[in-house]
Amino acid sequence: MKNTKTFFCCTECGYRSPKWIGKCPACGAWNSMEEEAESSDAPASTTRAVLTSGDSGAVSLQDMTIPEYLRSGTGLGELDRVLGGGLVKGSVVLLAGEPGIGKSTLLLQISSSLCQTRRVLYVSGEESGGQLKLRAERLGVKGPSLFILTETNVERILAETDKIRPDILIVDSIQTMFHNKISSAPGSVTQVRECAMHFIAKSKSENISTFLVGHVNKEGGIAGPKVLEHMVDAVLYFEGERQQSYRIIRAVKNRFGSTNEIGVFEMTDQGLVQVENPSEMLLAGRPKNISGNCAVSTLEGTRPLIAEVQALVVPTVYPSGKRTSNGIDYNRLCLILAVLEKRMGYRFSGQDVYTNIIGGLRIDEPASDLAVAMALISSYTDRIVPDELIAVGELGLAGECRAVANLEQRVKEAARLGFTVALVPYRNLEKRTVQIQGIRIVPVRGLFEVLPFLKEKES
Ligand SMILES: Nc1ncnc2c1ncn2[C@@H]1O[C@H](COP(=O)(O)OP(=O)(O)OP(=O)(O)O)[C@@H](O)[C@H]1O
Ligand SMILES: [Mg+2]
Ligand SMILES: [Zn+2]
Repeated sequence: MKNTKTFFCCTECGYRSPKWIGKCPACGAWNSMEEEAESSDAPASTTRAVLTSGDSGAVSLQDMTIPEYLRSGTGLGELDRVLGGGLVKGSVVLLAGEPGIGKSTLLLQISSSLCQTRRVLYVSGEESGGQLKLRAERLGVKGPSLFILTETNVERILAETDKIRPDILIVDSIQTMFHNKISSAPGSVTQVRECAMHFIAKSKSENISTFLVGHVNKEGGIAGPKVLEHMVDAVLYFEGERQQSYRIIRAVKNRFGSTNEIGVFEMTDQGLVQVENPSEMLLAGRPKNISGNCAVSTLEGTRPLIAEVQALVVPTVYPSGKRTSNGIDYNRLCLILAVLEKRMGYRFSGQDVYTNIIGGLRIDEPASDLAVAMALISSYTDRIVPDELIAVGELGLAGECRAVANLEQRVKEAARLGFTVALVPYRNLEKRTVQIQGIRIVPVRGLFEVLPFLKEKES
């Protein structure tokens, strides 16, 4: 019997080690080693060869011509926006998202519109032809130049690609694909990297626009090697609460456009429908004209997200007040309460305090302090924070408002979602002015300055 040798491979950087180690010596990541089977020929050398094929002589920048990025509309304006104005010819886009979020649905829908003028090859490694046909019927997808291939073997897919000569190739999903030369299982670091390499090389050499579908892991990152994100031209995240119908697409990387844009959709039985006014939908069901609420613009990794903080402050029946926090760090809440009590004289010690982030979101960054404080003051004083106001800032122990990172990105997102007033740290605006269309930016030095923004309830 053949004895298969195994090795350990870092999912972050691809470092290989014969034995398991807790911390990767190459990139310093913890717990990133995954066991894989050794293949007969070294994958690293073949992958290198794929990317460096062609004329590699150095050229003077002056003599280089500007390539014409031919963009085509995908039929979904919200997606085009995220892509930077349409799908770029010959680009490779990685679309990642949780199971059942609608990745296949989205790609089948755009196939339908793209295949009116182009040839589309949709490769599914996850579903049978019957399942795909069923979904296509439901979504009303048709077109003679949309080809479906159910296959997971990369060599056979590439052979089929040569036969069909598509303009657009969709690979659903990269984690199900395997290359014969690699003996480790589909979805493993080496296998995903190798397969992606081949699709990317094909895409670049034949000028095919390629979509790779990617699974996400428990932490919300893309499953498989981190290098995958470096290899592709754009990385899009498809996200949303599965129980709710809204879906958001964001670019976390885009070589052909900005990453500030988001696309919002609603999942219906006819597929994904674009949402013209996302603020209404995202913050739908948000209670209006009620005390204890304040909106905040938070960063999820590099992605800005608008959330709503809710607070409820009621007199306690216990000797000392109870504190419950949902979505906000408990210690951070205690700190904010202490600051409010000491610096502003609010007597929270005799009160039970409950806080919550709408939509089940978790906010871990101090930049949400100001919004939490405003929600608390609002509930305590029974005065309301205007619905169109957003607050961003970290609180210091003296009650001062401290600078936050990426202020413009946060405020831009708020403006895009329809907010018209942003309370931001004074320090962020000290050295430069920030102007964003549609939103009034108000610098705040400390907690007392937010009080004039709280108003009486409308009866
Ligand atoms: N008949 C239906 N009516 C309405 N919505 C449906 C219907 N069938 C499926 N859906 C929606 O489509 C979603 C599944 O979409 P899709 O298969 O495109 O997701 P996916 O991201 O490709 O998932 P996976 O990672 O499992 O491949 C379901 O979660 C559901 O919301
Ligand atoms: Mg799918
Ligand atoms: Zn590493």
